[in-house]
Amino acid sequence: MSDPKLRWGVLSTANIGRRMVLPAIQRSGESELLAIASRDASKAAAFASELGIPRAYGSYEALLADPSIEAVYIPLPNSLHRDWAIKALAAGKHVLCEKPLALDAAECAEMIAAARQHGVLLMEAFMYRFHPQTARVLELIEAGAIGEPRLIRAAFTFRVTNPANIRLRPDLGGGALMDVGCYCVNIARTLFGAEPTEAQAFASWGTSGVDEQLLGQLRFADERYAQFDSALTLPRRETYQVVGTSGVIDVPVAFLPGQGDTAIQVTTSAGTAVERIPGADEYQLMVEHFAACIRGETQPRYPPDEAMANMRTIEALLRSARNGGRPEAA
Ligand SMILES: NC(=O)c1ccc[n+]([C@@H]2O[C@H](COP(=O)([O-])OP(=O)(O)OC[C@H]3O[C@@H](n4cnc5c(N)ncnc54)[C@H](OP(=O)(O)O)[C@@H]3O)[C@@H](O)[C@H]2O)c1
Repeated sequence: MSDPKLRWGVLSTANIGRRMVLPAIQRSGESELLAIASRDASKAAAFASELGIPRAYGSYEALLADPSIEAVYIPLPNSLHRDWAIKALAAGKHVLCEKPLALDAAECAEMIAAARQHGVLLMEAFMYRFHPQTARVLELIEAGAIGEPRLIRAAFTFRVTNPANIRLRPDLGGGALMDVGCYCVNIARTLFGAEPTEAQAFASWGTSGVDEQLLGQLRFADERYAQFDSALTLPRRETYQVVGTSGVIDVPVAFLPGQGDTAIQVTTSAGTAVERIPGADEYQLMVEHFAACIRGETQPRYPPDEAMANMRTIEALLRSARNGGRPEAA
């Protein structure tokens, strides 16, 4: 009988893999973390022994040539997502690729075409959507707990001090919007269940040449708006608020709640209720959903077209920021 576990390979020894996604794959009952690849064979070997990964490869190509690997997780710098995802898809591997899926919507379209051509799954690793907190906020909105949602305000900021960090590198697709603002765009589109019609943004371009701070606003149909700020230069904040016609939902720890319990606040004319959300590992839930889709047990909750739509909005915001804040069609 064939092994029912999904056999994973990982392209690079990235921090996010080491800290979050690889341990989540290893904890997941449906997955087996089979191989790691690095541009440097000794780095791959040390990483493999540290995390207990059976195979280590000294190049990404070598890992993609391993026929035992069914799925590849790609936590590379943003500028490398498109090329390596397409190579993995062409090798017949399912791909879970870090956010943002690519540098722009045109790159996303190429990746989606490759996934269709080779009959494999492509998914963007926006883990926060798999946390029960996000599901609960959606449920409250759908149940009319705050009336009609009209305004979403979001923030995701933190400090990056090392100039070598990929987030401060324009050539690697860095910047606040690509790194953390993409979550704010995503939550607004997800909660409104719609695409924006217009985008406006102001950015501070630091000495690095990336948008180190970017403030954005989005107009949606039916008098709905989203405003957010993202930064690589400000203290850690990751929060959103949904304002409806009859109430407000506050989510103080929005995207990285960790595995402990978290809480949201619902304010209506009846007062303020604090709702406890039981802790969960959003990375493990994401990996398990991905595996279940491949095994045909469920349908992808977030197809890659959704990632392309997010990217289209990001592009409009960046165009506006580069044009000094001129409103742009989204
Ligand atoms: N979902 C989340 O919670 C989350 C959190 C953080 C980051 N991310 C995303 O994950 C991706 C990686 O972020 P990270 O912070 O983990 O990155 P990182 O630690 O800097 O790792 C990136 C890896 O890419 C490889 N690489 C290949 N070419 C490179 C180049 N020219 N310059 C630098 N590295 C290169 C390196 O691995 P080798 O040397 O081993 O080949 C490096 O370790 C990004 O897309 C980011 O947006 C997601």
